[in-house]
Amino acid sequence: MIFRQMFDGVSSTYTYLLASRRGGEALIIDPVLDRVDHYLQRLRELDLRLIKAVDTHLHADHITGIGALRDRTRCITVMGEQSGVDVVSMRVRDGDRIDVEGVSLEAVYTPGHTDDSYCFVMEDRVFTGDTLLIRGTGRTDFQNGDPRAQYESIFNKLLNLPEDTLVYPAHDYKGDTVSTIGEERAFNPRLQVSSVDEYVAIMEGLDLANPKMMDVAVPANAHIGLSQDEIEARGWSLSAEEAMELVRRPDIALVDLREKAEREKTGVIPGSLHAPYRDLDDNVAADGMLHEFAASTGKRLVFYCAFGERSAMAVQAAQEAGIAQACHIRGGLDAWKKLGGPLES
Ligand SMILES: [Fe+2]
Repeated sequence: MIFRQMFDGVSSTYTYLLASRRGGEALIIDPVLDRVDHYLQRLRELDLRLIKAVDTHLHADHITGIGALRDRTRCITVMGEQSGVDVVSMRVRDGDRIDVEGVSLEAVYTPGHTDDSYCFVMEDRVFTGDTLLIRGTGRTDFQNGDPRAQYESIFNKLLNLPEDTLVYPAHDYKGDTVSTIGEERAFNPRLQVSSVDEYVAIMEGLDLANPKMMDVAVPANAHIGLSQDEIEARGWSLSAEEAMELVRRPDIALVDLREKAEREKTGVIPGSLHAPYRDLDDNVAADGMLHEFAASTGKRLVFYCAFGERSAMAVQAAQEAGIAQACHIRGGLDAWKKLGGPLES
């Protein structure tokens, strides 16, 4: 197991790099934009392929690195479904799992610090974002924060985890790196309350200044930017309407890039092939399944995913691998569903 806790001294943010082995797939939690080169260096040194970049919530105190990591590694960006961030590749909800090879996180919806806050449980540890800090809790006075919701998230979700569960927060300002659920229950001053009202009173009495970078970070993090624009400029995208016109044609092959759990949750466009995004490089290579399929049938590949982000990156990779005519559905299944496009389970 590879587990790296990395620290950004400017924003006091912890970023976590996880993988099951050298040479395998990796996942990163809460990367900071200014540290992206550092993460890429570590990934190279450990011979890891970054598959997913996850943010626990929309941060107000630093600019997220998930967009830059996506642009430089073609990784999948992941946030909760409540997040107002313009485009992430995959959205999770309470109980969903975020998987890479040998690593599986369970998403736990924990609103309170913000209304899009998630914690991620992995075996003996939990990544608590800004919901539960070491001897503290994340402020609840902006970004749709809500101390009542946070009390519920902490007392009825996080504190139900086993006492010896390791707590890895998104920030620390006092020099601590890790705690446990039992330790926080016993010693976290904000958790020594006898009622939700008492907790709310503590949180409402904090009277904190806004984070220094808030006016910059919040808008920047809400607009990570589409990787779809450039694909469109090259004429490699179809609107959902255009796709609906084309799907029944015999010279078209729809390719679903989503993971099995997403397909089961949302449904599938009838007649599509399944080729998960994480296997894309192998599939579009000269001897790959999609490459051979396109060559032998002469069909035009139309990629799609949840929001059009993975499929935009897939079109780029397919075109680079020599699969001419590959295109994707702009806005993904989300746009398709909004138009009432047919789905099957
Ligand atoms: Fe935060």
